[in-house]
Amino acid sequence: MQATKRSDAPILLIKSGGACAISEWKMHFSHFLAHFEIREWEEKDFDAARVKYALVWEPEDGWIQKYPNLKAVLSSSAGVDHILKDRGFPSHLPIIRMVPQETEQRMAEFVGMSCLLLQKQYPRIVDQQRHRAWKEVTAPRLASETMVGIMGLGVLGSSAAKYLQKIGFRVSGWARTPKQIDGITTYAGQGALAQFLSHVDLLVCLLPATESTRAIIDARLLHGLPRGASVVNVGRGAHLVEADLLAALASGHISYAALDVLEQEPPLPSSPFWDHPQVLLTPHSAATPSRREKARQASLSIEGLERGEHVAHLYEAARGY
Ligand code: NDP
Ligand code: OXD
Repeated sequence: MQATKRSDAPILLIKSGGACAISEWKMHFSHFLAHFEIREWEEKDFDAARVKYALVWEPEDGWIQKYPNLKAVLSSSAGVDHILKDRGFPSHLPIIRMVPQETEQRMAEFVGMSCLLLQKQYPRIVDQQRHRAWKEVTAPRLASETMVGIMGLGVLGSSAAKYLQKIGFRVSGWARTPKQIDGITTYAGQGALAQFLSHVDLLVCLLPATESTRAIIDARLLHGLPRGASVVNVGRGAHLVEADLLAALASGHISYAALDVLEQEPPLPSSPFWDHPQVLLTPHSAATPSRREKARQASLSIEGLERGEHVAHLYEAARGY
């Protein structure tokens, strides 16, 4: 447990996991950042001027602005859209994305699992089981004959690409700027999107949510894929036009989808995705690292910032991610 701190100790304020998570956060940070006092965001009995850093998930609009001496905001997730939705977020404050090695590994495994499940037509197998039907289901091709196309070749997209290669898939990728990854065909920019899509059997979205990627998976993009392709969305719900996916699934142009993220989470009880026979739905949990790993990563970032160093995974406002 955390030892009693000097009353002027700097504070790391946490809004992630709710009040029930604070004792676990304190335990982890006591190993990594012992000279900081750890406080939960709903606590009121301290001087706001002592708050130097905040580790957050979905901070309420206007909340960050209450701390005049805040030096940086640490996102509790890789995406920072949950912070930037506050239009009044102070633009001078650095935001550090949470992308420890554990997130990379978890995401690569999750994407690998999703691609294998869709390639092996697992939604159809589950649907048959639900209906007590015993009919052989054979994947139309092997992984080695299946091209996975990854949209977004950043930290998570590039490590997922390497993992998919290891488990036998053919892999291509698309990013904003040119990339070189051994054994992977890469495409860059809007002008190359159609060419990228035209070879893809399994499309994986690992883009950040920005103005330019909003609703990117729409009818036009889906029809740019070969007939029978499948889609894995592990980026953000905002990337997908749900009605367009539903229409493409109904027409058979798209075979299956694995959705870990949705525009509305959790989906409404009336959402067609809950029991859609061509859809695997997971509750936004593709790659959540342990709190211990988050605390370790956050502490490294804070110590780096305190020493005036450049820290990894800094959000860049000019790019929007
Ligand atoms: P990075 O910032 O490292 O990578 C983003 C990638 O997207 C880069 O390759 C970038 O291109 C590319 N990109 C951005 N904008 C465009 C665009 N307009 N056109 C083409 N490519 C573009 O992010 P991460 O890999 O760390 O994370 C990606 C996202 O994954 C997160 O933002 C989050 O939304 C999601 N995520 C989801 C999780 C889940 O549990 N479902 C868990 C963790 C993350 P370039 O390389 O040229 O800059
Ligand atoms: C993330 C997430 O962005 O879990 O890290 O969605």
